[in-house]
Parts: sequence; structure tokens; C-alpha cells
Amino acid sequence: MMTALPPRSRRGAWLITGGAGFIGSNFVRALCAAPPARLVVLDALTYAGNIANLRDLLDARAVELVHADIRNAAHMIHVFARFDVERVIHFAAETHVDRSIAGPQAFMETNVLGTMNLLRAAHEHWRRARPGNLFLHVSTDEVYGALSPTEPPFDEHRAYAPNSPYAASKAASDHLVRAWHHTYGLPAIVTNCSNNYGPWQFPEKLIPLMILNAIDGRELPVYGDGLQRRDWLHVLDHCEALRAVLERGVAGNTYCIGGGEERSNIEIVAAICDLVDARLGRPQGTAHSLIRHVEDRPGHDRRYAIDSSKIGRALGWAPRRTLAAALPEIVDWYLTHADWVGNIRTGEYLRFYEAQYGQRLQATS
Ligand code: NAD
Ligand code: TYD
Repeated sequence: MMTALPPRSRRGAWLITGGAGFIGSNFVRALCAAPPARLVVLDALTYAGNIANLRDLLDARAVELVHADIRNAAHMIHVFARFDVERVIHFAAETHVDRSIAGPQAFMETNVLGTMNLLRAAHEHWRRARPGNLFLHVSTDEVYGALSPTEPPFDEHRAYAPNSPYAASKAASDHLVRAWHHTYGLPAIVTNCSNNYGPWQFPEKLIPLMILNAIDGRELPVYGDGLQRRDWLHVLDHCEALRAVLERGVAGNTYCIGGGEERSNIEIVAAICDLVDARLGRPQGTAHSLIRHVEDRPGHDRRYAIDSSKIGRALGWAPRRTLAAALPEIVDWYLTHADWVGNIRTGEYLRFYEAQYGQRLQATS
């Protein structure tokens, strides 16, 4: 698993775990515009981690990649020492709810035990913590469970009530971070964010899956009645929020991050249908006719929404992008990145798709 490590640096590094995934790669890309430190991506390159997401940055030596698995505790200690890690931005996780229902083991191993390995390595390395040391744990609003239709959005005071194995594993990891701060004084912050969308998102998640299926003229599998609601945030707004937390956040705090753009799933799918038809010059209604209401996800949370007022007040962050303006850009991104999509739609993804949706998918779009 271990790749040859570059020589020791004189400057402490920022370690970005899961930096080859969707949010992590967008975050690294944004950081590289004005790198605040030596940037080291640590990633196991699972099905969700794609070296192509970082190819230009790696070629330009703007970032270094360590191919490593956070489940390997000894390796984490080695990496902290080798790079003199001064900050961790922890994205690495198993992230797809449907996969957690089919196979929860990996979620517990990576999200819970892997996070503990990183916390222990950080604690070991930062025994005499220097100013600037920080462990930023990137988590999800799914730890709070589901909202009723009339409840106010989740905020930092909401009790945890995770419903899926994914959410339970993230909740456990959040609690570990809290405990390492409380017990060992580890400088740490947890962020709980709503559903992200944007470029480089793996097409197992709702928005890219629907865009690609609509382009290909494949069925659009809407779970249950499609009236479940999510709060959508552009990934670059999430990255800006994380940057604000890194620059001005206070250790021991949690920050909720949301887009304030609550929509039902069927609204999102309908919007994608109209955009794809328009972009491909097909008659309106073509993609719409592909919508199929399929069996619901077991334990499916009906509604998530986030109240971002704490991070707005304390750190001056607010989302800058709207779904109305950004969704057409995301459709265009997937239309113009057929090579990236083709490289992803290989063996593992084809097997996942068939097991999840009972349908065979062709290897390329
Ligand atoms: P992703 O699935 O696209 O990427 C996860 C990355 O982690 C991949 O690069 C993968 O290779 C890596 N990884 C997985 N297991 C690993 C292991 N054992 N060791 C090292 N690396 C490993 O996920 P994402 O959507 O970019 O999410 C990133 C983080 O943000 C996750 O912690 C997730 O819980 C959180 N989050 C995601 C969303 C969302 O909408 N996508 C919303 C809120 C919070
Ligand atoms: P997803 O992108 O998996 O994110 P999460 O479950 O973490 O919110 O799903 C977003 C919503 O879309 C969720 O309510 C499930 C629904 N969904 C479908 O209806 N069909 C699908 O094929 C997928 C992947 C998701």
C-alpha cells in the first residue's frame, strides 16, 4: 500500500485525507490557488477515490499523494512524523448510504476505527501542540436523523439520532473527535454539512447519477414517492466554509453548514430532466418519461435541512452559489467530461449498479 515517500520537509504539512474523492479533491484544488502550507493528500484510492481528480495538480507538484489506508494505525503514525503534519482536514470515509445498507463493515472500519487511528496519530505527534495545530473533521447532517415536515432545520444543539449505518458510523466518529478534544485536549473542530453537489462527484449519488442516466436515456430510479427532502450546497461553497473554519474557527466547536436550498428529490430530478433535454436539443419531456418510482431505500430519512446561522455569525460565511445558477453548469460538466465518466464506469461500478438497481449498465456513456 505504501508508496515511496518524498524527503522530509522543513515546514509542517496539511494532511488532507480522502483528498482524491469528491469534496476532498475540490478542496485541494481550491487550496492550490494559494497554498497555505505543504499539501499532502492521503487516500486509499477506493472505488470513490480517483487519481484523475488531482492529475493536473500532481503533475504540477502542487500537492503530494500518499497512497495509504487510514485503517492502518502504524502507517498513520509514520505519516504524521514523516511530513511533520500540523493540520488534518479529514474527509476520508465510506460515504454512500445504499452501500452502507448492503455492507456496513467497511463503514465501521474506515469511518470509526480509521478516524480513531488518525486522532491517535495526531495526539501522539502533537503531544506538545504548537499554535496552528488543528484536526478538522468533516462530517454530515445525517448524524441528526430525519426532520418532520414542520420542524426547524438542524443546528449545533440538535441531539444525534443517526438512522443509517453510514450516519451511525459518522456519528461515532464525531463523538470520538469530541472525546479526543475533551480528554486529551486535542485541538479539533467538527463540521456537519448538508448534501453537496458539483464537479467530480462519483455517479452513485443522486445528482450525477440522474444527469448521466438522463444523458444516456436510461431509467431514472426515484426511491419511493420522491418527496424526501435534502438541503443542497455547492461543493465550492462547502470548501469556502471549511477554509473559514480553518482560518477563524475555535477548537472544541462544531459548525453546521448548509445551502439553504431545500428541495424534494423529485424536484431535483425534474430540473435535471429539463436541463438535459434542453442541452441535447431533445423535445421537452423526453427525459421526464424515464422517471421510475422504484422500491424505497430501507429506513430512508424523509427530510434534512441545516441552519447555518452559527457559522454565518461567528465566521462570516454564507453560500454564494444557487442551485438555479449552478445546476446547468453541473449538467454541462458531466456532458464535457465523458472520459472521466468512462474511466469510472468500470468493473466495480458496473457490479454496484447491477446489484443496486437490478439493471446492467454499459461500460461507457
Ligand atoms: P467520496 O466518497 O467521494 O470520497 C471519499 C474518499 O475517501 C475517497 O477518495 C476514498 O478513496 C477515500 N477513502 C475511503 N476509505 C479510505 C480509507 N480507509 N483510507 C484512506 N482513504 C479512504 O466522499 P465525499 O462525498 O467527498 O465526502 C467526503 C467527506 O465529507 C466524508 O467524510 C463525508 O462523510 C463528508 N460529507 C459528504 C457530503 C456529501 O454530500 N458528499 C456531505 C456532508 C459531509
Ligand atoms: P444520495 O445522493 O445517496 O445522498 P444521501 O442519501 O446521503 O442524502 O441521495 C439523495 C436523495 O436521493 C436521497 O433521499 C435518496 C435519493 N435517491 C434516489 O431517489 N434514487 C437514487 O438512485 C439515489 C442514488 C438517491
